[in-house]
Amino acid sequence: MTITQPDLSVFETVESEVRSYCRGWPTIFDRAVGSRMYDEDGHEYLDFFAGAGTLNYGHNNAVLKRALIDYLERDGVTHGLDMSTTAKRRFLETFQNIVLRPRDLPYKVMFPGPTGTNAVESALKLARKVKGRESIVSFTNAFHGMSLGSLAVTGNAFKRAGAGIPLVHGTPMPFDNYFDGTVEDFLWFERLLEDQGSGLNKPAAVIVETVQGEGGINVARVEWLRALAALCERQDMLLIVDDIQMGCGRTGAFFSFEEAGITPDIVTVSKSISGYGMPMALTLFKPELDVWEPGEHNGTFRGNNPAFVTATATLEAYWADGSAMEKQTRKRGEQVEQHMIAITEENLADVKEYRGRGLVWGLEFHDKDRAGKVAKRAFELGLLIETSGPESEVVKLLPALTITPEEMDEGMKTLARAVRETA
Ligand SMILES: Cc1ncc(COP(=O)(O)O)c(C=O)c1O
Repeated sequence: MTITQPDLSVFETVESEVRSYCRGWPTIFDRAVGSRMYDEDGHEYLDFFAGAGTLNYGHNNAVLKRALIDYLERDGVTHGLDMSTTAKRRFLETFQNIVLRPRDLPYKVMFPGPTGTNAVESALKLARKVKGRESIVSFTNAFHGMSLGSLAVTGNAFKRAGAGIPLVHGTPMPFDNYFDGTVEDFLWFERLLEDQGSGLNKPAAVIVETVQGEGGINVARVEWLRALAALCERQDMLLIVDDIQMGCGRTGAFFSFEEAGITPDIVTVSKSISGYGMPMALTLFKPELDVWEPGEHNGTFRGNNPAFVTATATLEAYWADGSAMEKQTRKRGEQVEQHMIAITEENLADVKEYRGRGLVWGLEFHDKDRAGKVAKRAFELGLLIETSGPESEVVKLLPALTITPEEMDEGMKTLARAVRETA
């Protein structure tokens, strides 16, 4: 594809230097449908990024769009703080009937503000309030958001440095496989918890991603997650699963922890919960943890009613029979894996590893700069892929769960070509 240079001057002169994704994809996007995005010059891009996991059902999904247009046309409430509304009632009832009850999950639902980091902040606050302790344990290469509480439990040095103040009351521990299997899981962590001379303040909670999305597609084994849940129980710490990127079906099941058969005390959900890419977040917790005073955690945009409408439509359309969605995601994931095997075989000397679960996959190279070059070449070839990991050393694939088998093959062939052409 020949790319004509678009006029980016207003973004470069008016918009802050903080902008990031647009630097890797220097064009002006205009329209988007399903797994395709189109720029102002009419170029078509296959989207293997899906709004960083926010568009699990594709761009402008027709079913969700219809529900949204109908709601707006009948003057349904758009902004409602945390007022009781028809749209919120329908969402809560549907979430309970389609998601919580069939999984035997007893959670209360909190609307913490519309972004992922709002959910994380509220989860950390609640854990501290319940346990009366300050310290939270997080894991190496974790990412939980950019506000100060979330940054304190995030690993990335560059992002942490942006805080400008000390980030306190967080203690990092090794994520699964941090020592390449040479150290027994949780040996270090449990020893510190039990040793009165260790200097570790007893934590209120542990926060974990089942697959670290921003941290480099690091997949925790189900037995590691089970052992972590058991450790939390033994040591009287709450277990918070941050399912903001890996939830809503990304790994197969609706919640990414289902495969491990664990029930976290607190779960954070955002990104694809509205289904349509509209801001919305949930903090879920066991009822006995619901010790909030009214208004103790607040926020103007907790009642994004159009998001409740598309979230309800998403659950009805895709999760009323959840097994179909899960099966489809696993099938597409197997398709990705077949291509990953072929790419690895073709580039044996260059590829370090591929890894993933469901429809989140990473491809790591020995040369840490290679992933960035592959993503750049992929863009030129009409494929949107992101990099992740502490040094952006992993190519990250996050296509919509609704992608067709043909689109998947097309994207993976383009990826193979981008790898070949950056050797
Ligand atoms: C696991 C996880 N937690 C929290 C966040 C923060 O979400 P937001 O960017 O909506 O604040 C992200 C965003 O990528 C995430 O992946």
